[in-house]
Amino acid sequence: MIVSPPTLPAMYPRQFAAICDPARIVIIEASTKSGKTAGCLLWLFAAAWNGRGGNYWWIAPTFHVTKTVGYMRLQTMLRQADPAKRTWDDNDSELCVRLANGSRVWFKSADNPDSLFGDDVSAAVIDEATRCPEAAFNAVRSTLTATRGPLRIIGNVKGRKNWVYRLARMAEGGAPNMAYHRLTAWDAVDGGVLDAREIEEARAILPDNVFRELYLAEPTDDGSNPFGGDAIRACVAPLSTAAPVAFGVDLAKSHDWTVCCGVDSSGAVCVLERWQSDWGATRERVARIVGNTTAYIDSTGVGDPITEDICRACRNAEGFKFTNASKQQIMEGLSAAIQSREVRYPDGWLRAELESFGFRYNAGRVTYEAQSGHDDGVCALALALAARRRHKPFLFKVI
Ligand SMILES: Nc1ncnc2c1ncn2[C@@H]1O[C@H](COP(=O)(O)OP(=O)(O)OP(=O)(O)O)[C@@H](O)[C@H]1O
Ligand SMILES: [Mg+2]
Repeated sequence: MIVSPPTLPAMYPRQFAAICDPARIVIIEASTKSGKTAGCLLWLFAAAWNGRGGNYWWIAPTFHVTKTVGYMRLQTMLRQADPAKRTWDDNDSELCVRLANGSRVWFKSADNPDSLFGDDVSAAVIDEATRCPEAAFNAVRSTLTATRGPLRIIGNVKGRKNWVYRLARMAEGGAPNMAYHRLTAWDAVDGGVLDAREIEEARAILPDNVFRELYLAEPTDDGSNPFGGDAIRACVAPLSTAAPVAFGVDLAKSHDWTVCCGVDSSGAVCVLERWQSDWGATRERVARIVGNTTAYIDSTGVGDPITEDICRACRNAEGFKFTNASKQQIMEGLSAAIQSREVRYPDGWLRAELESFGFRYNAGRVTYEAQSGHDDGVCALALALAARRRHKPFLFKVI
């Protein structure tokens, strides 16, 4: 019996040129929402449909992403195209779609690379590759050896310190059997899958390096760091010996540190202390350091009575509650200060915290947070600079 394939959506020309490049291994660095996943699902389905049975693999960073972004989307596409399931069948517990010719499309998670060895695989896709470990690529590559099957590696770019970046540069440099493509947000606008207004909105609210990574697929030195690696290093200087004009204090929550950061009138850090102790000792130490200098005290998560207690002892201190919006605002202030070299801080743990700070962009919202480790020092420094903007120097009248 001859079965015709279900009719699926068509790729736009640039999407097609990238994904259906005849090279065996194709690496695509692409803008968010440019159609990487949808296009590669179509590509893997077509390979399975045109194959003679065999295994076809879709790999994504976690089980949840594999299931919801890969398996369920293919199911939805196939249900729309062939609701009677004449040409396909599925198995939810195995995350597998079986086609009329016996080909099987399996959806697998990269967080356990050991489970990716074994079968001979006829074609594979690694989706969101910059979030998958290199071991997953090595495993998938070995399963394609016997079949000489093709592989598509797709994702948003994320800095330069990862295996996808290295592989992309090899492909771009003309390594045999490899091809490289970049799909920007403007390609997706031309292809009719992204709205130009959305891109302009993102450009307005995102730091330049992050916009370039997310929408133009241009890898930067420091991935999603909002301050910029070079700028962070350029602001390193010995601790200032001038008097503080403003303080930022990040009070310890359950497992982290209390950090007290003071800046002088030029924006240089002149006091930087961090410690872990009981609440009584912390209150006394903060009061001793801050005194009557202008200060913002992070009151998020410690409860108002504690912040009020400190503010009674330090008459120019005010509580500051971190919400998504207020954190974004003070982090943008810190980012602007670092990029214009209006702040200086000593080398060491604070620089390391700044370097590992990053942010996520999801559904139009930016969330600032440490990518690994702590961010108490980053918060204290940002609060100190915000307090410095509030600080009014005394004006002496000459009479
Ligand atoms: N060729 C196409 N024709 C019509 N719609 C498309 C096409 N390609 C992608 N889309 C639609 O564009 C949207 C984004 O596609 P997709 O999720 O594949 O992008 P992505 O680049 O994988 O995004 P992300 O950055 O979230 O991983 C989806 O709604 C998808 O259905
Ligand atoms: Mg995707």
